[in-house]
Amino acid sequence: MATATQPKARTPKPPQVKDQPLFIGGKWLDSVSGKTFDTINPATGEVICQVAEGDKADVDLAVKAARKAFEEGPWPKMSAAERGRLLHKLADLIESHREELAALESLDNGKPYRDAYNADLALTIKCYRYYAGWADKNHGKTIPVEGEYFCYTRHEPVGVVGQIIPWNFPLLMQAWKWGPALATGNTVVLKPAEQTPLTALRVAALAQDAGFPDGVINVIPGYGPTAGAAISGHMDIDKVAFTGEGSTGQIIMEAAARSNLKRVSLELGGKSPNVVFADCDLDAAVEGAYFGLFFNQGQCCCAGSRLFVEEKIHDEFVQRVLQKAKSQKVGDPFDPETTQGPQVSQEQFDRIMGYIESGKKEGAQLLTGGNRVGSKGYFIEPTVFAGVRDEMKIAREEIFGPVMNILKFKDIDEVIQRGNRTFYGLAAAVWTRDIRKAHRIANGLRAGTVWINCYDVFDAAAPFGGFKMSGIGRELGEYALQLYTEVKTVYVNLN
Ligand code: NAI
Ligand code: MG
Repeated sequence: MATATQPKARTPKPPQVKDQPLFIGGKWLDSVSGKTFDTINPATGEVICQVAEGDKADVDLAVKAARKAFEEGPWPKMSAAERGRLLHKLADLIESHREELAALESLDNGKPYRDAYNADLALTIKCYRYYAGWADKNHGKTIPVEGEYFCYTRHEPVGVVGQIIPWNFPLLMQAWKWGPALATGNTVVLKPAEQTPLTALRVAALAQDAGFPDGVINVIPGYGPTAGAAISGHMDIDKVAFTGEGSTGQIIMEAAARSNLKRVSLELGGKSPNVVFADCDLDAAVEGAYFGLFFNQGQCCCAGSRLFVEEKIHDEFVQRVLQKAKSQKVGDPFDPETTQGPQVSQEQFDRIMGYIESGKKEGAQLLTGGNRVGSKGYFIEPTVFAGVRDEMKIAREEIFGPVMNILKFKDIDEVIQRGNRTFYGLAAAVWTRDIRKAHRIANGLRAGTVWINCYDVFDAAAPFGGFKMSGIGRELGEYALQLYTEVKTVYVNLN
């Protein structure tokens, strides 16, 4: 994600972390069952600490607290401007704890500290500030209806919102969920990913310090099929927002349908085409293609994981990308020289190694990488396949790891057609100096975001989300307010 002008961070030592409770109704609690689970440092495979394991009983308590806070207490009485002030305060607190939070994120997720500090924290703080500004600006309309009536709309909060987030950008996904939900007056029950629960809990503590009333924010760490399922199937949750795997999104949507038809928004994966034309600025395209795939250890929903390179420059492009892949420093996330950390978990490591095997078996050319790095932690070499064909598994499925797939193409109509031959539609990019080609690609590829001569540019003000099976709804920007509000129409008889 865009990191351009952030100050270079000092690199601290990995923090020591105490065992962690749940956060319900303003209280820090053990789980009802008394169970806990390990959260693991992916750089070493060692346990960081124990975390209270939430399940249905804990979700029930959190929903009760959130319902009470939604209907009674200071939250519904608070002015919209005051909600904005609280969100600004939370942004300030996150900013003043930036090093601590970046270190905690790096420890739990494995991403290089430098990236956590420069990218994740910068975007997280901006997201809260952006939605702080919306709190008192999301107003309805007056409508000139027929007859002697005065008609207007109100944008009201949906109610109690369940939010289930993944492990690849824990702080940022929390901000994308909490920013719009809280600005518009909802109360939330958040389940962080079981791999990375630590920063969500720390931000909840900061929100408590900022003065969010008890019950407005609840955090239930735990597993998907237990705590997550309790949220998506709950009869008193009005909306569920989810980011993660497509098949999980389908389970959640089904549970929402079978329970109380709660509103559903989904941000699922992608297999995003990144198209490099021969007339591009080659240096920029190589940098952008590398970053667009390998950033965050390749664990990005919008990764440019189908890299289409025009035949005329294919061989030169491949050589340049290989040079880059071979010059990376894979290792300790707290070493300032490190450019690539470990994958988040053993499970993800195994899954990625499985895809690398499948690429080899199906006849793609493995040009570099493909192996584990070191003997502990979940490190994988930057891996590049060329000669990838559309029908190969590595060209169809989301790998979510440091594995680049290069495909050749000859002309623009062909690449648009091939680019769209997927169930996904999250993002796309094009590299060319020809403005006509750039726009034909931008219009022709069915994706929620298209980057022209750039990649992974994000801004809290610009919407993000997927066409097709990449999701439902748009997060960020003004568009995300719709995910968290109901429109109420009011008629007044003037006669
Ligand atoms: P996942 O979709 O299973 O997990 C994401 C979140 O959903 C976690 O909080 C998890 O506990 C929860 N969850 C899992 N099963 C659930 C259920 N039945 N009901 C309710 N919540 C549930 O993703 P996972 O297993 O961590 O990763 C698998 C693959 O998913 C990755 O390899 C990647 O391809 C994709 N993924 C995509 C992400 C994105 O940003 N779109 C983020 C993370 C993973
Ligand atoms: Mg899963």
